[in-house]
Amino acid sequence: MSTFWSLWIIVLTTITLIALVYLLFSNRKSTNKGPDSTTGHVYDGIEEYDNPLPLWWLYMFVITIVFSVGYLIAYPGMGNFKGVLGWTQINQWQKDVDKAEEKYGAIFAQYSSTPVEELIHDKKALKMAGRIFSNNCAQCHGSDARGSYGFPNLTDSEWIYGGSAEEIKTTITHGRTGAMPAWGTILGEDGIKNVSAYVLSLSDRQAAVGDAELGSEKFKLFCVACHTADGTGNPALGAPNLANNIWLYGGSQGLIQRTINLGRNGAMPAHQELLSSDKIHLLTAYIYSLSNGDSKTDLSLNNNNSEPDLALVK
Ligand code: HEC
Ligand code: HEC
Repeated sequence: MSTFWSLWIIVLTTITLIALVYLLFSNRKSTNKGPDSTTGHVYDGIEEYDNPLPLWWLYMFVITIVFSVGYLIAYPGMGNFKGVLGWTQINQWQKDVDKAEEKYGAIFAQYSSTPVEELIHDKKALKMAGRIFSNNCAQCHGSDARGSYGFPNLTDSEWIYGGSAEEIKTTITHGRTGAMPAWGTILGEDGIKNVSAYVLSLSDRQAAVGDAELGSEKFKLFCVACHTADGTGNPALGAPNLANNIWLYGGSQGLIQRTINLGRNGAMPAHQELLSSDKIHLLTAYIYSLSNGDSKTDLSLNNNNSEPDLALVK
């Protein structure tokens, strides 16, 4: 804050405080007049008394003014003056973070040295991981992790990028970007209809429009490089399996045509800057447990906020 604004605040605050004290005492009627003096104002036969403030009330005002002076000396408030206690929001936050680090550091260290495959049997670890999921992942994947249009379901055994602990960890750490090119100009309207009919036939579904036979030719030409010859996809490229009737972007023929026509670019953000590797390890175990766990992790655990300071630790 520049010196001018700092002085501006100090002067205004001081004048206001002095004005309040003046107002309080200058308006205070002495009790000498007795309780019966009126302001002379009468309405509907009701007279307005001119009694002084009750003493307890007056003292309350005095106490608040004394408190405010004490507060302005102890804490920052007077422009650039930092207060004699040296309190700052950042210090306070750092203190909370340090406390949380101390509380969770040892627990995290123990969890991060346990392999994911073992961690999925540890209820306490999963409970903690569930909260981390709620804070960082649920906004996209849903609080039940089942995803929605464009956001993959993490509870089934269908994986775009692979479902081993190692692959899941890579996904969370570095993020993923899906790159499905747009084929509209290359295939044309009929071409898209035919290919979408062929895609549907891969999961034994009947298309409403288009010729799957003709579509198959185009598929061999343009699609197998990523989705492979039998359409089962390639995790290394993030090309989903098109033959299992599980859809990221919807499985109606209309939506499939849209995907082929305009392309898709789903983005899973990288979390290595946002979360420590310990937290990512715990999250990996959580995601892994959703399809490999003992009784499939109890998702109702997520919304219990008994460890609100967990979010403070990176
Ligand atoms: C901003 C939204 C967003 C957030 C936040 C987000 N994700 Fe994702 N995630 C996505 C999208 C979109 C995809 C699919 C990417 C694609 O289409 O290629 C994805 C994909 C994934 C996958 C791969 C699924 C598969 O089938 O291979 C995993 C695992 C995953 N996310 C876990 C997480 C975890 C754990 C978190 C929390 C740390 C998280 N995500 C936070 C949007 C998000
Ligand atoms: C360069 C590699 C590549 C080629 C070539 C390619 N795709 Fe894709 N396709 C992808 C990727 C990657 C995704 C996932 C996009 C995402 O996650 O956002 C995808 C997604 C899709 C989906 C959506 C699947 C779902 O679950 O919703 C369909 C349908 C599809 N592709 C069909 C085709 C067809 C048909 C062709 C040929 C005309 C084709 N793709 C060619 C990479 C490719």
